[in-house]
Amino acid sequence: MERFGLIGFGSVLLVYLMSGASALLHTANPHSVCKSCDPQPANCKSNECIANCNQSKVCPNPDDVCAAVWWRKMDNGVVMVQTKCHDPTQPLNGVMIDGYNSSDCVLAVSDMNAPKLRQCACTGRDCNERMLLNKPDDDSELITMSASDSKDLFRIPQLCKFCDIESTECNVSGVCKSLCNITAICEKTTEVCVSAWRRNNGKATIETLCHDPARPFYGHYLTDFSNSICEMKRVKGMEDDFYICSCNEEECNDQLFFTDVPAPPEYGKKDLPPVLLVVLVPAFLAAVVLLSTFYCYHMFRLRGLKTPKGIDIETCAIIMSDDDRSDSSSANANSLNHNMELLPIQLDVIVGKGRFAEVHRAKLKQGATDESFQMVAVKIFPYEEYASWKTEWEIFSDAELRHENVLQFLTAEDRKSERRYWLITAYHERGNLQEFLTHHVIGWDELCRLGGSLARGVAHLHSDRTTCGRAKVPIVHRDLKSANVLVKADLSCCLCDFGLSLRLDNSMSPEKLANSGQVGTARYMAPEVLESRMDLENIESFKQADVYSMALVLWEIMSRCSAIGDVREYEPPFGKLKDHVCVESMKDDVIRDRLRPEILASWTNHMGIQLLSSSIEECWDHDPEARLTAQCVVERISEISSTVIPPVSADTKSTQDSGNDEK
Ligand code: ADE
Repeated sequence: MERFGLIGFGSVLLVYLMSGASALLHTANPHSVCKSCDPQPANCKSNECIANCNQSKVCPNPDDVCAAVWWRKMDNGVVMVQTKCHDPTQPLNGVMIDGYNSSDCVLAVSDMNAPKLRQCACTGRDCNERMLLNKPDDDSELITMSASDSKDLFRIPQLCKFCDIESTECNVSGVCKSLCNITAICEKTTEVCVSAWRRNNGKATIETLCHDPARPFYGHYLTDFSNSICEMKRVKGMEDDFYICSCNEEECNDQLFFTDVPAPPEYGKKDLPPVLLVVLVPAFLAAVVLLSTFYCYHMFRLRGLKTPKGIDIETCAIIMSDDDRSDSSSANANSLNHNMELLPIQLDVIVGKGRFAEVHRAKLKQGATDESFQMVAVKIFPYEEYASWKTEWEIFSDAELRHENVLQFLTAEDRKSERRYWLITAYHERGNLQEFLTHHVIGWDELCRLGGSLARGVAHLHSDRTTCGRAKVPIVHRDLKSANVLVKADLSCCLCDFGLSLRLDNSMSPEKLANSGQVGTARYMAPEVLESRMDLENIESFKQADVYSMALVLWEIMSRCSAIGDVREYEPPFGKLKDHVCVESMKDDVIRDRLRPEILASWTNHMGIQLLSSSIEECWDHDPEARLTAQCVVERISEISSTVIPPVSADTKSTQDSGNDEK
């Protein structure tokens, strides 16, 4: 193992050194940007000429400077100028050019045999656009310029789409619109229009902006900025799927052309000297082979290990265990099954009905025979509910959402022929928490297990870190209720129904935030949600509203626990299930009368119930700021369950009760 460790470390070091070397090659020498036009008439006065070239180019060689070649046509006396990049160590038209370190391009007769030919070189962006003549040109008065020629002399700043980063439906094929509704006048005349498309964690975004091509964009120099259209090219070597285009016409970065042409060398890989390539490529391949060997061995060892209680090694590993069949979803988590590749699923009974969709139990065939299958749940949305399907699919697509207390997502399918959208998830036989509590009285241990796992699910949702410390986008559920919590076989909970959930990332537009006020189920709405007085600017306020709803669910679980004494039949918070509660009546109860579900004094004879009740009361405080965080509830329940040892009789009774139908 140690040997593998050393090899692994060595390989990592090698790859690191190589990437460092490659990074150096990418960044050490900024390439010049020069005017680059074939010979064309120039605009000249006696001691100065303007090239009239509207095309700039990033020079291919980092040592290149800008150059201009000037001559007068013998037939009509018009001055022609050719502009280009030039390697100053090489002759230009047979003559070495001096003075190229200057920012001025000073045209000099370099060949006495050709007095009408002048050349210059200079250093600096587009420094070859304006040329100075070291001595006046005798025939200069002959030169005139047409009005159309003059327009390029006075460049005005470009008009470009400029929306920064927005999510997009655009896929990397055909032609897409940016859908950016802001057109900006670029700050500088040198700036061009740029669009970048990327896919990160299954979410596709488009960035539109103005950018100066003399500066790198995401570490790469733009090379196509003289184009009139924005032709998307894949950027190699990026972690995400990443495409960039640039162009130099009004709003040209609105329409994005995706072609299947592979990325040109300018974008991905920059002028690696062949010798380095010969050395680096085999070294890189060797490192990959070594790393793969080390990784396979490591995974092999890992599978042999028993997972310790608490931290879940498997969740932190990138590849999941085969034992957990539902883990096969991880590879699918971001994908959409199009009609061509639908999973072999046979629908069974309906197990749930929601606002927008119904949930079926279903069999996912595993082999050739009908006997071999995995039970799954399929949430079916009619075509009209595309938006709800998409919202929930987007939430599930975040691989970092995976958690034992969040419903396991398998894949999404667009069942075009049936005009239905599907979400396929793990199936939990015990159904939702509301049904479960209706039919079961639980013991103290089950209360801690159900309550603790519910809080862990919500805390994970809200967190900006996974259990393993990876960065994650915080999510708010916004419709927490016992019907949206499933009970797993081991009597822990998992959260489901993310149709109203919100990802609290930076890309959330002000419009989306403004429209995100009052959603959810009236019975479970926090007072500030009922009143539509949430502070929408503060992401914490969304979490605080979730914590209020979670407190009501914790109360529901507690109300069915034998530790409270006399357990009554299941009732949801604020009255009978069949009562239709609307926002207005809830406002009267929750805001005007400050009502909360009842916690009888007799319940608190049990120390654990007393402690848990205090925490629940802190979570449904009228003041959102005063509420506990979900993570704090996790810690409280963990402390309470480990310090409170229920009386032997109660404990025994609870164990017997758990999972039994109510008599
Ligand atoms: N009801 C809603 N979703 C469910 C699921 N995944 N398993 C069982 N019952 C459900």
